[in-house]
Amino acid sequence: MGARTKGRDDGEDAVSRRQPLPLPRHDYPPDAWKLVESRYSTRFLARTETLFALGNGYLGLRGNHDEGRPTYDHGTIINGFHETWPIVHAEEAYGLAKTGQTTVDVPDPKILLLYVDDEPLFLSTAFLTSYERVLDFRAGCLQRSLVWETLSGKRVRLVSKRLVSLTQRHMAAFSFEVTLLNADGPLVISSVLLNRQDRSAPLSGSTPFDPRISRDLGERVLENELSECDGTRVMLGYRTARSGMTLGCGMDHRIETACDYELSTSANGDQGKVDFLIEARRGEPIRVTKFATYHTSRTVPTTEMAGRCQRGLARALSSGFDAIAEDQRTTLDDFWDRCDIQVGAGLEVQQAVRWNLFQLMQATARAEGSGIPAKGVTGHGYEGHYFWDIEIFVVPFLCYTEPRIAKNLLRFRHRMLPAARERALELDQEGALFPWRTINGEEASAYYQAGTAQYHLNADIVLALKRYVDVSGDREILSEIGAEMLVETARLWADLGFHDDHDAFHLHSVTGPDEYTTVVNDNAYTNLMARLNLNYAVSEITRLRDEDPYRYEVLCGDVGLRDEELASWLTAARTMHVPYDDERGVIPQDAHFLEREVWDFANTPPQKYPLLLHYHPLVIYRHQVIKQADVILALFLLGNEFTREEKRRNFTYYDPLTTSDSSLSPPVHAIVAAQIGDLEKALSHFRLTLLMDLADVGTNAAHGVHVAAAGGTWMALTYGFAGLRDFDGQISFDPRLPEEWEHLRFSLTVAGSLFDVELTHDHMRFSVRSGPGLKIAVRDEDVVLSPEAPVEVALGPA
Ligand code: BGC
Repeated sequence: MGARTKGRDDGEDAVSRRQPLPLPRHDYPPDAWKLVESRYSTRFLARTETLFALGNGYLGLRGNHDEGRPTYDHGTIINGFHETWPIVHAEEAYGLAKTGQTTVDVPDPKILLLYVDDEPLFLSTAFLTSYERVLDFRAGCLQRSLVWETLSGKRVRLVSKRLVSLTQRHMAAFSFEVTLLNADGPLVISSVLLNRQDRSAPLSGSTPFDPRISRDLGERVLENELSECDGTRVMLGYRTARSGMTLGCGMDHRIETACDYELSTSANGDQGKVDFLIEARRGEPIRVTKFATYHTSRTVPTTEMAGRCQRGLARALSSGFDAIAEDQRTTLDDFWDRCDIQVGAGLEVQQAVRWNLFQLMQATARAEGSGIPAKGVTGHGYEGHYFWDIEIFVVPFLCYTEPRIAKNLLRFRHRMLPAARERALELDQEGALFPWRTINGEEASAYYQAGTAQYHLNADIVLALKRYVDVSGDREILSEIGAEMLVETARLWADLGFHDDHDAFHLHSVTGPDEYTTVVNDNAYTNLMARLNLNYAVSEITRLRDEDPYRYEVLCGDVGLRDEELASWLTAARTMHVPYDDERGVIPQDAHFLEREVWDFANTPPQKYPLLLHYHPLVIYRHQVIKQADVILALFLLGNEFTREEKRRNFTYYDPLTTSDSSLSPPVHAIVAAQIGDLEKALSHFRLTLLMDLADVGTNAAHGVHVAAAGGTWMALTYGFAGLRDFDGQISFDPRLPEEWEHLRFSLTVAGSLFDVELTHDHMRFSVRSGPGLKIAVRDEDVVLSPEAPVEVALGPA
């Protein structure tokens, strides 16, 4: 790194290396329940396509304008609908991932074009006398209202709305209402359903190299199998060229107007179109509502797809847009009732918190049967892959607010167990090895050093299972699917590691969460999490054996479990090596981490971050420089295994070495900083998390929402500032409310009891809304929450 002054730059840390770029207030005025854009501009086009995206976890629409251009990325995404492609390694090696998987765009239903006197509405050149775009978190609806003055002097009011239904998960609905304000005249509303996947539509403005975005598949993906139109309806069907997945989609319309109109409909393999040719009269509103529906072979047999689409469209037409919008609001009322967080820190913070919570809802609400892609259904970043983001950053929120969805996600992982067993075998290991990144269950990470080597995913899944069981009290899941996952993950660890001459158990050649240090020995996070995995497996399988011998026998039959295996897991856990550095009093990130040269932060200019885009991996790997929380993540997740002083020492050492080049890092640093009482640091890391997309902290908000940062926002508020601890299901709070905040209010569901929490500087107040209540602790005081009356606990100094 040259002969400059090297070493830690004590004035700097991940926070000061990052430059949040907030949207300007004058164009994006803050609102507690909405994201508002009050002026049209293309300046933030790519980012706002993400920020205004809609989704329900199954279907997602990026926030492109109705006119379809200008645009950065036209995204219409169905969770898990993907194409495969052969991974060509420049140098092959045994067992490298063979098949790439990439989410592809399904036909775009967002296009509604308006022509007045044959002049198209094109926002970039149109003269707009008013404009506003609003994403309403309570309505779950995106609305754009404008008045356009055409070149021939007509004034046209256009109000368009769209939503992705939370009650009918295959359905998107649109309302397009046009009124000529000062004259009569001919106008055309053209509604299109367009296969964009197979048109070259480059991501304008994307950098030439960025491993975080999606790939251009370079060849035709969607082979057309159905193309029909009739009246206001169009149906299209496709099969992906390689993965062989099938897709059926359709659109239908209703027009409401007192004006005369004609209709023309067409469909060719790549496009369906319905044109409404209208003799518009001054002051007479014309409203076209449009419904689009999608089914894929993930959920419906191909032969039934068209029928399902037809029925969905008929149902939507008969309810109408307004009724669907009403259902949407009711569903969201329920969501906000249980999931809202109120932060007494000003309007902007409140808005950002709700935007993040809304994203969590949009990523997960109707994802049933699938995982949650790193970007939800809002963009093509990370190719639509499922990572550990689900278990570590999303499941905690779900356990406390939507346990049913948390359970579905665990079942989704369980369905991947056969593929994970095969993968373990391929890596010469017993048990199961879950893929680092995947859609269909097979490993899709071509770069094994920062992919397959992240064995910790096995334990991350187990921690999510444990948290779900502890928080929900639903132990049934253990015999349903959990025990099998515990056996196979524990087997992997027991087989992967070895005992040295002093009987210590080691895990070698693994990568921890920090991808700036790869293929190392005894990564502390991995060893600690593997220990938890092994211990939990032993305790739960033993309990099953003692309490339900029949199910235990079934399990033994299913997975060939032998009694002596439990003993070997216990030994591995008891003797697990956890490195410790006496001199510095910290846990080394891995066996050799502390021997490396410290990165020259002082001479690394801000534009060189994220480092992964500017330095060869070898340059990065040979330094003490961290992409994301690793030891610090262990301090949080396994917080009951460390004293506060240990947390403080490790945080003080690792925080300055961490670039937070991954969005997964700041929330974890915020939590641990809050726990050790460093509220200044906690707040600055929290700010990065909160604004990750809104202020484009990672400079890649254009690729889609950072769902893990949205989950991290929830975690930083609950686990960080409210001081929630939930080890082994014992709920307690040790709050640290920042000076400048007035209060923090949120709700949690624990073991069937829903209760509200209010934190101020001098008290914590709990009221049980439903369920039997429970016993918790605040700092060291036991508190019983019962439905009879709220409880208030006075808070002394932390
Ligand atoms: C992080 C991973 C994460 C992935 C998807 C990467 O940059 O290093 O930990 O799973 O992004 O969010």
